[in-house]
Amino acid sequence: MTYLDNAATSFPKPEGVYEALDRFARHSLANPGRSGHKMALESEHALTDARHRLNRFFAGRNPDRWAFTLNGTDALNMAFKGVLNPGDHVITTDLEHNSVSRPLVALAEAKRISLTRIPADSGGTIDPDAIRKAITSQTKLIALTHASNVLGTVQPVEEVGRIARERDLIFLVDAAQSAGVLPIDVQACCIDLLAMPGHKSLLGPTGTGALYVGPRVNLRPWREGGTGGDSLTPTQPTDFPFHLEGGTPNVLGVTGLVAGLDFVESRGVDAIRKHEVELCDKLRAALSELPGFEVFGHADTNRRVGVISFRCEILPAPELAGLLDQSFDIAVRPGLHCAPYIHKALGTAPDGLVRVSPGPFNTQTDIDHLIDALKQITGGM
Ligand SMILES: Cc1ncc(COP(=O)(O)O)c(C=O)c1O
Repeated sequence: MTYLDNAATSFPKPEGVYEALDRFARHSLANPGRSGHKMALESEHALTDARHRLNRFFAGRNPDRWAFTLNGTDALNMAFKGVLNPGDHVITTDLEHNSVSRPLVALAEAKRISLTRIPADSGGTIDPDAIRKAITSQTKLIALTHASNVLGTVQPVEEVGRIARERDLIFLVDAAQSAGVLPIDVQACCIDLLAMPGHKSLLGPTGTGALYVGPRVNLRPWREGGTGGDSLTPTQPTDFPFHLEGGTPNVLGVTGLVAGLDFVESRGVDAIRKHEVELCDKLRAALSELPGFEVFGHADTNRRVGVISFRCEILPAPELAGLLDQSFDIAVRPGLHCAPYIHKALGTAPDGLVRVSPGPFNTQTDIDHLIDALKQITGGM
């Protein structure tokens, strides 16, 4: 199979991830921090080490301010539900994934918050000035995706972070499509809350994610329970990371995530992004020569990650992706990509687009195979 759906979940993982998962599952998979015996301590140590690694990689202030989550969605919910209060105003954008939009719209429909959604320009970028103009005296939070999961366009997080800090607002960045392919310095970008899955460009297994909580923010926990210590305290301990981590963490997945991070650090985010963007550009160039294809999102390679979406005049996206899968063994993602607002703005709902998202292990040959399949499908119609 030619797998080109890395924006959903990366595949394959680096060899080191499979090895780390196997080793840890066989030798160290005790309950972290619960029992005090050697294996439990080893398991706890794996989590602590992972927090240090993430903190260093994203230039955080304190390793303890990293909470492990089930995925990106879990991290985002933890952030929104932990920080927003009745009457707050939130600014977000029409590029957002439903993992940002749905919790915010649900709070707005319950009349607990008010919400302003900033439209992207026709190429898929948010203007920081439009965010500045939307700020009111009630604004508490700006929630922005770092890179669009539909168009791959990179958003101006540094500028928006500066605006948020000047106005003393909380700045949340959804790094689902950027963690592992774009450098992120949470302090330099004034990011207070950074939410990410571990199973996309960080190359970890599914069931992993993380939330960084900067020092200006104190979240209410949205999941309460056992933490292994402080058992006499009747409510959730207030010290991080236990404050946010009720229940046994996915320590096995986290060891895989760290092995994924090893790969990302050794190859380098710039090299990984360059490789993936080059593959997308090869496809973009080929599609521009083929009749009946339309590619979305601005073309500037410096402002994109390795995600490209297109449509075909004669075949709706779901059918085209179905043919690629069934007849050519090529995996891509059709539809709305859980990002309905940008598809509505582009006029591509309800069928959506075909999204192609290469990963670090894809090659030029994979893209040639895709181009050839598209030619065969459309040429035969
Ligand atoms: C931009 C964006 N945000 C959030 C998510 C949600 O991540 P997860 O599927 O890990 O919950 C995704 C997943 O595709 C995404 O692309």
